Amino acid sequence: MARVPVILTVNGAEQAEFVEPGALLVDLLRDKLHLTGTRTGCGQGTCGACTVLVDGEPVLSCITLAARANGTAVTTVEGIATGGVLHPLQKAFAEGFAAQCGFCTSGMIVAARALLDRNPDPDRAAVIDAISGNICRCTGYEPIINAILAAATDQRRTKSA
Ligand code: FES
Ligand code: FES
Repeated sequence: MARVPVILTVNGAEQAEFVEPGALLVDLLRDKLHLTGTRTGCGQGTCGACTVLVDGEPVLSCITLAARANGTAVTTVEGIATGGVLHPLQKAFAEGFAAQCGFCTSGMIVAARALLDRNPDPDRAAVIDAISGNICRCTGYEPIINAILAAATDQRRTKSA
């Protein structure tokens, strides 16, 4: 089958690839661009491990065709830190022991980043809602929710300083 061109920006860098028409975004990111921070868990849109941002919106890359990302800007967990400095979310996850096995962590951080981008001062309910599509089998969610709230506070403090 003829491959189709996909030109997109990933973590600020323009990328051009040819993919099978049915290729998935997660496979483009992991296999062709070697951005393996994005996880494949269920592969059917139920666990959230594969969450990336497409034009700022959280998307499940395991059920998104790579061709659909043509012309978009994609952010993966590798693009969350800037210039080698951890994002407040990454710092808060590390300091708050919000990752145990770590399998869900990149999807959680990406989903939380989308939340903080649209709502810098979320309450607990908003955080729970934002990660409601992301499954964690280890932490019981409390450390993750607390880390996201701590990151929001940290981010607001930094911006107002
Ligand atoms: S791997 Fe995509 S939702 Fe589970
Ligand atoms: S830390 Fe193991 S699945 Fe969340």
